[in-house]
Amino acid sequence: MKTRILFVCLGNICRSPAAEGIMRRIVEGRGLSGTFGIDSAGTYGGHRGELPDPRMRRAAARRGYELTHRARPLREADFERFDRIVVMDDCNYEAAHRLAPSRELAGKIYRMTEFCRRSPQWDHVPDPYYEGREGFELVLDLLEDACEGLLDDLRNPDRS
Ligand code: 4NP
Repeated sequence: MKTRILFVCLGNICRSPAAEGIMRRIVEGRGLSGTFGIDSAGTYGGHRGELPDPRMRRAAARRGYELTHRARPLREADFERFDRIVVMDDCNYEAAHRLAPSRELAGKIYRMTEFCRRSPQWDHVPDPYYEGREGFELVLDLLEDACEGLLDDLRNPDRS
């Protein structure tokens, strides 16, 4: 059975589609594509249907990730379909909790930075939307770290 992971941010055009692209490449690199379902969504639906922000696509492309996701809003049904709903910051965490159909299903919500190993000082992945190029690079650094940690956690749950 596949493990289904949904990355969630606000607009679904910067952080979460980048997390999706990074996670896809990590699982592909380990020959695990068939065992994972990976998607992303936003708690704000205003960018529905859009490709990721061009600044994020450029920054990701420099590291070899092609981001082709089309933005979509987080839905109640996602809490049934996915095993883990991984949010970027407190605002996403609270919005996801408000949408969760039950307390039990809200237990699927995790913070992305819980899985950071190299950057344990961060308790959120900062919104890069109003930042310059360094903001996007920082997001990618944190997401690469957290995606590795998330995969390790899923494969070896007893070690975390
Ligand atoms: P994201 O970034 O949540 O990482 O996709 C943002 C995208 C759009 C907006 C804010 C943050 N916005 O205000 O439209």
